[in-house]
Amino acid sequence: MARIPQHFIDQLLERTDIVALVEARVSLKKAGREYTACCPFHDENTPSFTVSPNKQFYHCFGCGAHGSAISFLMEYDRLEFRDAVDVLAQAAGLELPSDAVADQPSGPPREPLFDVMRLADRHYQSALRRNQAVIDYLKNRGVTGEMAKRYGLGFAADAWDDLTRRVPDRAVAARAGLLIERDSGGYFDRFRNRLMFPIRDTRGRTIAFGGRTLGDDNAKYLNSPETPLFHKSDHMYGLFEARQALRDLPRLLVVEGYMDVIALAQHGFANTVATLGTATTASHLTTLFRHTQEVVFCFDGDQAGVRAARKAMEQSLGVMRGARRVRFLFLPDGEDPDSLVHGEGGREAMAEAIEAARPASQVLLGQLTEGLDLATPDGRAQIVERARQPINALPPDAFRAEMIGEISRLSGLPADDLRDLYASNQAAPRQSASAAEHPTADNAHGTQLPPVTRALRLLLTEPGLARHVQHTADLRDNSNPGARILAEAIDFFASNPNVSVAQWLEHYREHRYFDRLQSLAAAHSPGDDEQRSAEFIEAVTRLQRHSRSRAQLRQRYNALVAQQERGPLDAASAEELKEVLRKLQGQSAPSS
Ligand code: UTP
Ligand code: MN
Repeated sequence: MARIPQHFIDQLLERTDIVALVEARVSLKKAGREYTACCPFHDENTPSFTVSPNKQFYHCFGCGAHGSAISFLMEYDRLEFRDAVDVLAQAAGLELPSDAVADQPSGPPREPLFDVMRLADRHYQSALRRNQAVIDYLKNRGVTGEMAKRYGLGFAADAWDDLTRRVPDRAVAARAGLLIERDSGGYFDRFRNRLMFPIRDTRGRTIAFGGRTLGDDNAKYLNSPETPLFHKSDHMYGLFEARQALRDLPRLLVVEGYMDVIALAQHGFANTVATLGTATTASHLTTLFRHTQEVVFCFDGDQAGVRAARKAMEQSLGVMRGARRVRFLFLPDGEDPDSLVHGEGGREAMAEAIEAARPASQVLLGQLTEGLDLATPDGRAQIVERARQPINALPPDAFRAEMIGEISRLSGLPADDLRDLYASNQAAPRQSASAAEHPTADNAHGTQLPPVTRALRLLLTEPGLARHVQHTADLRDNSNPGARILAEAIDFFASNPNVSVAQWLEHYREHRYFDRLQSLAAAHSPGDDEQRSAEFIEAVTRLQRHSRSRAQLRQRYNALVAQQERGPLDAASAEELKEVLRKLQGQSAPSS
């Protein structure tokens, strides 16, 4: 998908007022220079949600939610990034640049693809209404007319050209995945004699189809291929319908099949989605947690189900923070959710299975201890090693602490030792990450944060500080990636004094430090103007000094290596070379 050009995002945020945007959805009260409300993202009785017109940024001190106008729309209206930009652009009277609407920079626009999908959708649905045999098939499987309508079920006729004859532009329909082009020229229908399940995006537009054979085709299910509209590792079946049916989604069930989604919805579990014949991806989890706080994965009890659960667990680790919960449900062998709710136990059986679903911590511990004898020193040593990778994948949060506690209990090693052991395996920048994730908690001891964190926090809460720095070349040369970002921010705010912090942040949405930068921007810097200026200058100076001493080391290193190429070094120089190298390696990040 083409990127939306940064200059467009800049322009969009310039024309958008976050206060008006939030106010249209949440009632705000003015409090000093900011606005406050009870947070729309968690339950509370006293307001801890604030919107800053200056920063064009919102922040909740209760649950930590924060971001720009774009982030707010993504979270509140639960939109994808592009769609949030789309909505804001419409409100601001801006038109998305044509290259951003297109599939590829020079590719064709997506609108005609949506159009032909809509046409196909209507056609398949009306074909179903006219076909008694298919209606009977659905009845036999216990699907009500209401569900067929809610999920837009349809029928693709048993013919090669039923849809081909009806589309205005066959090349477009082929690009949308509906038709297949023959090598000899001409087109034919991809879906034939199939029960059709439209796959919709979060705005309800059909972007793909799944089709179940009604004959004896070898492929029981056939999905649309990857198209400019559809990426199967991002999308989930049933998410739009779940959101339509339920105002709140405290929990989402993730199942494997289309029919499972529909059967569960029909039996009172409208909060069900399915992955589309693929393993759970990180992108799925990001999407899921944009809509809910708890994900319950339902897997078959067989070997394939256990493997699928392992994959889902791997992907889940990186997003386990805050109030998020992941649980795993293994169904009895041979059952799927569809058969379970239609079986003797009915909806109760499913409800019980959901209640009994095992928390991620338990499942992870089960995986880690599998085949180990914890009664032996060897087994206890092994669990410490096995846990290293998953624990290091966990964000610094309560779940990580809980897991370390469990490993401590099982291995007999004190939790403090484990914390050191696992933390020491992390790259240096991660340590400043944990500091950055709790910026407000560190206010009192602000000076204990690394200088780059302190400088960024100050600058992002008060961009005017940029005027204190004349040259940023040194900072850019610093090995710490944060120092480079700091340099970029200083230059940006120095030359754009009227731009909001939220606008600057949007340049980093794809950056791996985006979350961290947002947290820093959400912080409040203590002290008065003078103190803040002094602290900022002090932190930047430290970083510059560090860069310079590093530059000197590198120079010395190059000189010694050049000398070595001319002939063997004497003992003292050889020792110095080692020492310089050690320093260069050891100093990959400045410590406070
Ligand atoms: P299942 O084979 O478990 O089918 O596939 P099901 O959902 O129980 O279907 P019914 O009840 O026989 O109608 C589970 C999911 O795996 C994907 C589909 O998404 C399906 O819903 N799948 C399965 C495919 O993509 N292709 C296939 O050939 C089979
Ligand atoms: Mn089934």
